[in-house]
Amino acid sequence: MLTMLRHLSVFKNEGRLDINYTPSRLPHREFQRNLLTQFFRFAIENPGAMTQRVLITGNVGAGKTVLAHHFGLEISKEAKERGINLNYVHINCRQCRGNLFMILQQTVLHFHPHFPKRGYSAEETLQMLMQILDQQNAYLILVLDELEALIEAGGSEPLYKLTRIQESHLKEPQRVSLICILRELKYLNMLDPSARSTLQRNIIKLEDYSTSQLQDIIKTRVNLAFRNEAVSPSTIQFISELASAKNGDARYGIELLWRAGKYADALELPEVSPECVRKASTDVYPVIQKETVTSLGLHAKLLLLGIARFFKHSEAAYLSMGEAEQAYNIACEEYDENKRGHTQLWKYVKRLSALGIINTEISTTGQRGKTTLISLPSVSASDLEQELSEVLSRRKEEA
Ligand SMILES: Nc1ncnc2c1ncn2[C@@H]1O[C@H](COP(=O)(O)OP(=O)(O)O)[C@@H](O)[C@H]1O
Ligand SMILES: [Mg+2]
Repeated sequence: MLTMLRHLSVFKNEGRLDINYTPSRLPHREFQRNLLTQFFRFAIENPGAMTQRVLITGNVGAGKTVLAHHFGLEISKEAKERGINLNYVHINCRQCRGNLFMILQQTVLHFHPHFPKRGYSAEETLQMLMQILDQQNAYLILVLDELEALIEAGGSEPLYKLTRIQESHLKEPQRVSLICILRELKYLNMLDPSARSTLQRNIIKLEDYSTSQLQDIIKTRVNLAFRNEAVSPSTIQFISELASAKNGDARYGIELLWRAGKYADALELPEVSPECVRKASTDVYPVIQKETVTSLGLHAKLLLLGIARFFKHSEAAYLSMGEAEQAYNIACEEYDENKRGHTQLWKYVKRLSALGIINTEISTTGQRGKTTLISLPSVSASDLEQELSEVLSRRKEEA
């Protein structure tokens, strides 16, 4: 009889492996989670009496984003129960290309979904935000995730503006608190001393997870997402060891778990075996999201297409700025677009690098003197080329 049944998926709820899912428990982050609650007690007990600035730091996959989200969900709920208009707004600075206006615009959109997309400066938007908060008697906990992007793009200035706005409103009620999320503390050195010292006061440091901690995290997630006994203890152990080798990156572990489950389903296996994990781990790990590529401007896309093609047909690990320019020119001809000048291309290179799609480094060796070398760290050149060609030809059809 059993053989007549269609294969039963190993998953019971795949969505719980999604990067945007916030689990109700965060094993091994309870202390840091409590600390965050303590830092923001006033927001529930005496809102408006003060504001707070907290910095969360730790490596990729250490749980920075999920920690903030978990806190945001709970404090919002508690505020609501007490009739406090507290708003938790989580912005990813990298997705906003490190642009303060875009960050503020997204924040205002939380309150006014029809706020215009352009036409205002960052300062005006900030003023508007403060007005809205006053009008609605609202409080804001603004999370600046991947703060690196904001500092890379604007240095101290944007943070200075954000912290000063509250200082120019010194009389009560104070409305804006900040949670900054930064992978590497060395970025603080790029700030001026006053901006740095405000951020350094309350630091929550997330250490890399150990293998046994990862095991608890993975096991908890297995129970949420998989059918009973679909993932054996040895598979959990194996995944935890692999994630531990990646500096304790829980995200890698959870991705691997999901992908291994997909292999098990494709092979119609009743459980996720270590072999499924091995297969999954040899897959390319997609670090760049499709939306990131789609959201690029036309000429940044053309430049990236040129770069992808270069690497597709070359064994080299790096290409020079000059070579990138040549490849870009060819792409422009193909798509009938007027070439942008050198200065403009530089800006695209910087943007692509800020988005983490390319790496740039200055080479001082070789006869050519100083030149910028570009590499493609984390995506296959042919996948990228294919993706870009599709997006660009879709655009051509629409035109
Ligand atoms: N302590 C934890 N308990 C449960 N899940 C966790 C924990 N830490 C991290 N995760 C999960 O691991 C993944 C990566 O976490 P994330 O917060 O995105 O890391 P970071 O922002 O530090 O790079 C997410 O899916 C998150 O839900
Ligand atoms: Mg994160």
